[in-house]
Amino acid sequence: MCGITGYIGTNDAKEILLKGLEKLEYRGYDSAGIAVFNQDGVHIFKEKGRIADMRAVVDGTVTAKVGIGHTRWATHGAPSKGNAHPHQSASGRFTLVHNGVIENESELRVEYLQDVKFNSDTDTEVIVQLVEKFAKDMETEEAFMKTLRLLNGSYAIAMLDTEATDTIFVAKNKSPLLVGVGEDFHVVASDAMAMIEITDQFIELMDKEIVIVKKDQADIYNLQGEVIIREPYHAELDVTDIEKGTYPHFMLKEIDEQPLVMRKIIQAYQNADGNLEIDSDIKHAMAAADRIYIVACGTSYHAGLVGKQLIEKLAGIPVEVHLASEFGYNMPLLSAKPLFVFISQSGETADSRAVLVKVKEMGYRALTITNVPGSTLSREADYTLLLHAGPEIAVASTKAYTAQVAVLAILASATGSAKDTIAEFDLVKELGIVANAMEILCDTKEEFELMAIEYLPAAINCFFIGRSIDYFVGLEGALKLKEISYIQAEGFAGGELKHGTIALIEEQTPVIALATQARVNGSIRANVKEVAARGANNCIISMKGLETEGDRFVLPAVHELLTPLVSVIPLQLIAYYAALHRGCDVDKPRNLAKSVTVE
Ligand code: F6R
Repeated sequence: MCGITGYIGTNDAKEILLKGLEKLEYRGYDSAGIAVFNQDGVHIFKEKGRIADMRAVVDGTVTAKVGIGHTRWATHGAPSKGNAHPHQSASGRFTLVHNGVIENESELRVEYLQDVKFNSDTDTEVIVQLVEKFAKDMETEEAFMKTLRLLNGSYAIAMLDTEATDTIFVAKNKSPLLVGVGEDFHVVASDAMAMIEITDQFIELMDKEIVIVKKDQADIYNLQGEVIIREPYHAELDVTDIEKGTYPHFMLKEIDEQPLVMRKIIQAYQNADGNLEIDSDIKHAMAAADRIYIVACGTSYHAGLVGKQLIEKLAGIPVEVHLASEFGYNMPLLSAKPLFVFISQSGETADSRAVLVKVKEMGYRALTITNVPGSTLSREADYTLLLHAGPEIAVASTKAYTAQVAVLAILASATGSAKDTIAEFDLVKELGIVANAMEILCDTKEEFELMAIEYLPAAINCFFIGRSIDYFVGLEGALKLKEISYIQAEGFAGGELKHGTIALIEEQTPVIALATQARVNGSIRANVKEVAARGANNCIISMKGLETEGDRFVLPAVHELLTPLVSVIPLQLIAYYAALHRGCDVDKPRNLAKSVTVE
C-alpha cells in the first residue's frame, strides 16, 4: 500500500526511482509519480494508473542526480493525476511524497492554512504546505520537525527543497521506510526489495525519527532534534527471489514454492536432535499463558483459525482468534494471563499494529509470526517467529499462508512437548509428508485448471463448504477466488447452509466441498447432497482414505491436523486459473494493496 523511493548520488536518479517503484508495485497502487532536481529546477512526472503509464509521460531528456518517487493507493481523494504524489507547496519550493494517513489534517488546515489554495484532495498536501509556511521563519530542518510534531497519524515522507538541492528530508511514523547506503549514494525505500539491486545495506528507522539524507551522509534525529546513531544492517535478500523468472505470474511461482518453503521451515526450526524447536522464552511464555489471543487480518486470520485447532489440540491451551480491525474497538474480556500472537506476512499491517500497541500499553506479552524480519510488528512484539517463506510479491497470499500454518504447528507441538500434553507426533516426518504431497499437487496443475474451466467459466458466485478445519480452509479458498477473479465467493460451514444460505443455491451454482476429516466425512457429504438436490454443480475434493466414487479430486493423505497445508493448494490454483481465464490482473488485483498500512 503506497510505496516510496528516493535517490541522491552520482547516477541518473530517474531510472533508479522508476525501477524501485516497479519493485514496489506488488504493494498495490492506483497512480504513480516522481520528482527530480537538476540545474533547471524540479521536474515532476505523474499519472493515474500503472507505472508504465507514468513512464510514458517522463521526459527522457531530463537528467538529475536527486529525486523522490511514489506509488499511491488512494485514501483521501480519488485515484487521479491531481491526487497522485509528489505534491508541491504553494510556491513550488517544497516537493513531497507521503505514505500513511494524517488524521488531524482538517484541524491543521483550519488552524494554519486558511490562506493557502490547495491543488489536491489529499491529506499529504497539508504537510508540504505546513513546511512552506514554517520555513518562512526558520531553517528547513526546523520547519520540517515543527510540522511533524503537529501531525497525528501515520507517515513515511521524503521531501525535496529547491534551496537545499543536496538533501532529501526523510521522516517516519508508523509507516515503513528505510534509508539505503551505497558507495557514493543514498537511497530511500519503503522496503529493501525496491533497492536491493544497488545496495544491501539499510538503516532501519524508528517512529518519529527524521533523516537528513545527502549523497555521502545520512544523519538521524528524533523530533526534538537529538542525534541518533544507528549502523546499517545487511538485508538478506536474493535478487532472484523478487524476480518472476520464467513464470507468467508471481502468484503461480509462489504457489509452486510451497514444498520448498516447508523444507526451509523444517531446516530453520530443527535442533541438533532433529526435533522442531522454538526459542525457550517463547515456549515459557506460551506455557505460562492461560489463554492465547491470535490477532490477524485476511489470509493471516484464516491461518490463525487453523492455528487455534493446532494449539488447543497439541498444547492444550485455549485460543481465541480475532480480526485485528474489530479487536481494537471491541476488546473481549481478557483472561488473567493472556499471551497475544500476531500473525502477519508483511509485519506492517496497520490494523494488527494498532492492537499490538494497545496490548503492549496494557502490559501484556506478544509474539509476532511474520515473514519479514525487522518489520514493525516484529520489532514491537516481545518475541518473533519467522516464516522463512522468502518475499511474497503477489497480492494474493499463498506461500505465506501455508508457512504460517506450518510455523503455528511447530509452535503448538514445541509447547505441547514442553508441557507433556502431546502424545507421539513426529512433526518433522509429518511436514516432510506434507511437502511431498504439495509437490504432487503442484505437478497436477492442469487438473485444477480444468476444474476452474469446468466450474467457474461464467459463475457469478461460488461456495466453498467444509466442516471443522475444512471450513477454515474454505474461507481461505473463497477469499483467494474473490480477490483475484472478482467472483462473489463465500466460505461456509457445511452444517450451517440449511440455516439460510442454501436459499442462494440455484441450478449450476458451483459448490466446492472439502472432505479431509474422518470425523465429519459423512456429514459434509450429506451437506453436499442437500445442495445437489437444489441443482448445485458440486465439486468434492477429498483426502485419500476418505474418498468415495464421484469425488472430483483426491488429495494425497497427510496428518489430519495438517490437511489445510495441502487442501488449500487446489483452491489457490483454481482461483489462479479462474482469474487467468477471465483476463484479470492476477498479481495486482483491483483495489487491493499487499501491505495494508492504513487502519
Ligand atoms: C489475501 C491477503 C490479505 C492479507 C491481509 C493481512 O490474499 O493477502 O488478506 O492476508 O491483508 O496481511 P498481513 O499478513 O501482511 O498482515
